[in-house]
Amino acid sequence: MKEYYDIVSNIITSNEFKSLKNDTHHNTNKYDHLLRVSKLSYKIAKITKSDVKATTRAGVLHDFFFGGRKDCQANSYLNHPYTSANNAKKYFDITDFESDIIKTHMFHHTFFRSLFPFINPTEKVRIKEGKPKSKEAWIVCLSDLAVSAYEGLRYNVGGKVGLYAIFLFNFFITR
Ligand SMILES: [Fe+2]
Ligand SMILES: [Fe+2]
Repeated sequence: MKEYYDIVSNIITSNEFKSLKNDTHHNTNKYDHLLRVSKLSYKIAKITKSDVKATTRAGVLHDFFFGGRKDCQANSYLNHPYTSANNAKKYFDITDFESDIIKTHMFHHTFFRSLFPFINPTEKVRIKEGKPKSKEAWIVCLSDLAVSAYEGLRYNVGGKVGLYAIFLFNFFITR
């Protein structure tokens, strides 16, 4: 993974990026989530002979926004890809190609919202704009989906194990 760390080291060692450790995201923190997604994106990019550097950099910056998704409109489910792309340009001078990968990483959610527009009618769903336009963009979008599912499940399973442990403990001490 030396090549991976060579690509991301200037990003993950910056104070702006390290501050994401304080942001809760999928029951974990945004820093860990971004490293997981970028590592998976890196591996898939290698296997599929894609643009490894662009995929990895976009993967590690795809949720590069500060605070929670409910803190402000710019951080919402549909807007945070654009906010992250702007921040990534500001702090790490990303290319237009990398910016497009970041902007379309929430296509799964955009597609879902286009099917059910009544969920939040005040937000504009941009299905054509939100669709990944390259192999690299699909890699980051699908890696994000897979990692988010893993993180959700992991913590749900942990929660269930905790509940069972309390139940068993309660069962034994009340016998
Ligand atoms: Fe996201
Ligand atoms: Fe994400």
